[in-house]
Amino acid sequence: MSNIISICGSLRKGSFNRMVVNLLPGLAPAGMSIKEGPPFAEFPIYNADIQNSTGFPAPVNVLADAIRTADGVIFCTPEYNFSLPGGLKNAIDWVSRLPNQPFAGKAVAIQSASPGPLGGARVQYDLRKMMVFLDALTLNKPEIFIGSCATRFDEKTGELKDEPTRTLLKQQLEAFAKFIAQHGCKASSR
Ligand SMILES: Cc1cc2nc3c(=O)[nH]c(=O)nc-3n(C[C@H](O)[C@H](O)[C@H](O)COP(=O)(O)O)c2cc1C
Repeated sequence: MSNIISICGSLRKGSFNRMVVNLLPGLAPAGMSIKEGPPFAEFPIYNADIQNSTGFPAPVNVLADAIRTADGVIFCTPEYNFSLPGGLKNAIDWVSRLPNQPFAGKAVAIQSASPGPLGGARVQYDLRKMMVFLDALTLNKPEIFIGSCATRFDEKTGELKDEPTRTLLKQQLEAFAKFIAQHGCKASSR
């Protein structure tokens, strides 16, 4: 059984990316369990003076431990101004400064949803670049860019109305399961 955590880059209640995150457990292949990771909304803005005086805030350690003990991480995030939402960038910045850096050797998959036509193509390449620096092992294909997402989801119920998107999500999760098996990505201890 592989234990995966999902991290949603959006904090808003009606988030399309959260609708995707909510679907993932039901789309996972046999032998894969997906749970949403601990929240990062309350992290202070990264400041090395905080780290050096009072230490890492407790919620940063909670997220870092969840990443370390997972077999893989799935990001599902909107694109803000052609890049990462500030809160998600801040969360990654915090956990990246910890000893036993949690993303090192970790299997990562990326998804994005946007009402725009490109579905968040540009945020994915910025996130991929950050994962390179952090020595994560990021799945290459299939990529999931859910463009025009407002037409694919029922905004009120969160229901995915678009079968090709469901199929693609399933295909990525199957590819991620194989990727984890092939690359021997192992959850590490705290
Ligand atoms: C500050 C900000 C910047 C945005 N920049 C982009 C962008 O560069 N590309 C894009 O496709 N959508 C952009 N959007 C629109 C978001 O894709 C849209 O608000 C989306 O619904 C956010 O994801 P969520 O529904 O998961 O919260 C931006 C939205 C905000 C609030």
